[in-house]
Amino acid sequence: SCSNQHLVFGCFSFDSLSQKWGFEALAVTHEFFMPGMVDTHIHASQYSYAGTALDLPLLQWLNTYTFPVEACYKDLEFARNVYTHVVKRTLRNGTTTACYFATIHTDASLLLGQIANDFGQRALVGKVCMDTNNFVPHYRETPEESHDETNRFISEMLKKKYPLVRPVVTPRFALSCSAALLGHLGEIAQNNHLHIQSHISETKEEVKLVKELFPDYDSYTDVYHKHNLLTDKTVMAHGCHLTDEELKLFREKGASVAHCPNSNISLCSGMLDARRVLNHKVKLGLGTDVAGGYSPSMLDAVRRTLDTSKALTIQDPQYQTLTFEEVFRLATLGGSQALSLDEHTGNFQVGKDFDALRVNPRGPKLLRSLGVVKSQVCSGSFFSPSLFPLPPSGDDRNIAEVYVAGKRVVPFVERP
Ligand code: GUN
Ligand code: ZN
Repeated sequence: SCSNQHLVFGCFSFDSLSQKWGFEALAVTHEFFMPGMVDTHIHASQYSYAGTALDLPLLQWLNTYTFPVEACYKDLEFARNVYTHVVKRTLRNGTTTACYFATIHTDASLLLGQIANDFGQRALVGKVCMDTNNFVPHYRETPEESHDETNRFISEMLKKKYPLVRPVVTPRFALSCSAALLGHLGEIAQNNHLHIQSHISETKEEVKLVKELFPDYDSYTDVYHKHNLLTDKTVMAHGCHLTDEELKLFREKGASVAHCPNSNISLCSGMLDARRVLNHKVKLGLGTDVAGGYSPSMLDAVRRTLDTSKALTIQDPQYQTLTFEEVFRLATLGGSQALSLDEHTGNFQVGKDFDALRVNPRGPKLLRSLGVVKSQVCSGSFFSPSLFPLPPSGDDRNIAEVYVAGKRVVPFVERP
């Protein structure tokens, strides 16, 4: 294995093995291990309609498609079916850690935790909390229900003693939560030292409405902060329209941003200036944000992050475009830091769990680049991250195996 300050790769050439054991060399050369990827923001419940409805801006999109679909998770069999598919699909695509939104339904959210545990995925799982919803009134809770069910969700989840799955306190966003509910959730998170996830400043319309609804607060970020929801275990999705003052507050509190570029573009929400977030020294990870984002693949999130950064460069040629190394880091170590799980995962540092992908760069999509890869990159046992052959054109067919905490979880083991 080799390392630099930010990235630690394992890279193995099997040439010597094939000579020694007489293996078919072509079949095994130049495979390597890379750290598993961390999806810092994904709605497991929205997987059922991913890619089918992206023709409305965020708030209309929520009311028209998202809330009616999420209401269906009252049905546990429906939930089991979708949640099994999303856990398997993300694992197969190299997501070793996922930070999930479920729905308001406690039992279905517990089921998502069980399914992630059964398939061996590291996960934060959130039962969604919301007491404001004028469009689909049967899909909301009272503040008391939300408080009590969140407590039940947390205690039931912790009782299961799943080694890799933890509950995360999940107010949907300020527009779906009364101040009373935000207060309850801040208190629960604080008393139990729990992770927190929500959305922030995704669209300008949302920011404007939050200002109107919470006129006594300095900013959108301040609404969460004053309710004890901005901590060093908080991850906020999007943040496209955060001000410098808000980013300073994020930095001060150790809270992080989940950059969800596919969703930001698909719903025409905005373009996060990731460079600005990094310059503020705010922790930053990447998220697929299924189903505002239509792809559950973190490699897609890598590509979209590069695209967004390049689009910002087109607007301003002085812009410091993100490099591939930086984006790859965001998808792995950056994500684990954003979720405050970097003690356990994110790279191959000694002492961390082995969350890894065995990559076969000879998968179908990469044949064209193989000449370059072979002659310039993989001729020795070290691997140059700047010529990393997977993300620009790779997909799940290039991921031969997935390991979480040292256990092989892909290919899937058939369970009885
Ligand atoms: N803001 C509040 N809820 C949601 C959601 O489900 N998806 C996205 N993209 N933004 C949100
Ligand atoms: Zn989201």
